[in-house]
Amino acid sequence: MAQICSFIIQKGGCGKTTTTVNTASYLALQGYRVLAVDMDPQGNLTQHFGYDSDALDKTVMHLFLEKEPFNSVVLKRDEHLHIIPNNIELTSVEYSLYKSLSREYLLRDTLAPVQNNYDFILIDCPPNLGILSINSLAASTEFLLVVSPEFFPMKAVKPLYETFLMVRSKLNRTLSFKGVLMTMCDFRTRHSQDVRDVLRKNFPQKLYNAYIRNTVTLKEASSVGKSIFEYDPQSIGAFDYQNFVEEFMRDHEKFQAKRSFYDRHFQQLPEKQQHEILKFAQNNLSSYNRNRLDYLDNEPVLREAIIIERNKILERLYPYRNFSNLGET
Ligand SMILES: Nc1ncnc2c1ncn2[C@@H]1O[C@H](COP(=O)(O)OP(=O)(O)OP(=O)(O)O)[C@@H](O)[C@H]1O
Ligand SMILES: [Mg+2]
Repeated sequence: MAQICSFIIQKGGCGKTTTTVNTASYLALQGYRVLAVDMDPQGNLTQHFGYDSDALDKTVMHLFLEKEPFNSVVLKRDEHLHIIPNNIELTSVEYSLYKSLSREYLLRDTLAPVQNNYDFILIDCPPNLGILSINSLAASTEFLLVVSPEFFPMKAVKPLYETFLMVRSKLNRTLSFKGVLMTMCDFRTRHSQDVRDVLRKNFPQKLYNAYIRNTVTLKEASSVGKSIFEYDPQSIGAFDYQNFVEEFMRDHEKFQAKRSFYDRHFQQLPEKQQHEILKFAQNNLSSYNRNRLDYLDNEPVLREAIIIERNKILERLYPYRNFSNLGET
């Protein structure tokens, strides 16, 4: 069954859509089957994936109100990455949702028949806690807060936490709080550091080590309808999102199986070869990140980045074949 995650914060412009798009893209590149759901009538996720949202005949609304078949609405960007699109029309019909039966479960009921077809379903929420965000939380197994230091995040967290408690007690008992990701950071500034300190204090177990720096390539990728991995795989944005998604996946069974496969392989290699592979991984990293690794003040992120790079090298040497068959490597 799919892991279903809502990317949420009711404040606008924090990087929810950018994070949903690039997380979905990275997971799909790793061979997972991914469905990205655009729950925001602005249609930004749909556009970021390169579709003209205004030109679409069918959107998530047709699934909710007209009970269209899933296959007539879903956009298949490639074999691994599917999208349920949205556009501005949804705003005008949003009020009809309030009149529908089981209005909080429209998304959950839409996803129920297809969720076994995916490893991950990622939901991009709108910047408010209205019926569409409630639908997203009611359909999810977990949710992730996307926070930028542009504003003081704890202000937004209280009403969001109350919504989470309400959804968990009344609509979805198994909903869990997955974590907090900081985006658009610049840790050379005092402000970003202060916000990180507040988040660390309030969410000691939940704040991801990985974070997304403020970088214009992410904006550029979105304006040309591409993920950062398609637009500029050597960029800071690609590096940061790769680190985040690898951390995001750490509790996923298939990910753990693949990771321990490479850990085992690496340990069995002669010491000389281990050393060479690690050196190669470090060289790759500095060219990958155009020598700007010094921006990273975070040891665990750097250590993890080296392991990710090491595993990419191992993957070329010892392909992990049976990705879909757990354990049969
Ligand atoms: N790390 C980043 N560095 C620089 N620009 C970014 C970064 N992440 C996102 N952006 C840009 O900031 C703007 C807002 O990002 P995004 O649309 O992802 O936020 P959002 O939370 O989904 O906004 P909304 O609440 O309106 O849906 C976009 O133009 C996006 O390209
Ligand atoms: Mg958005």
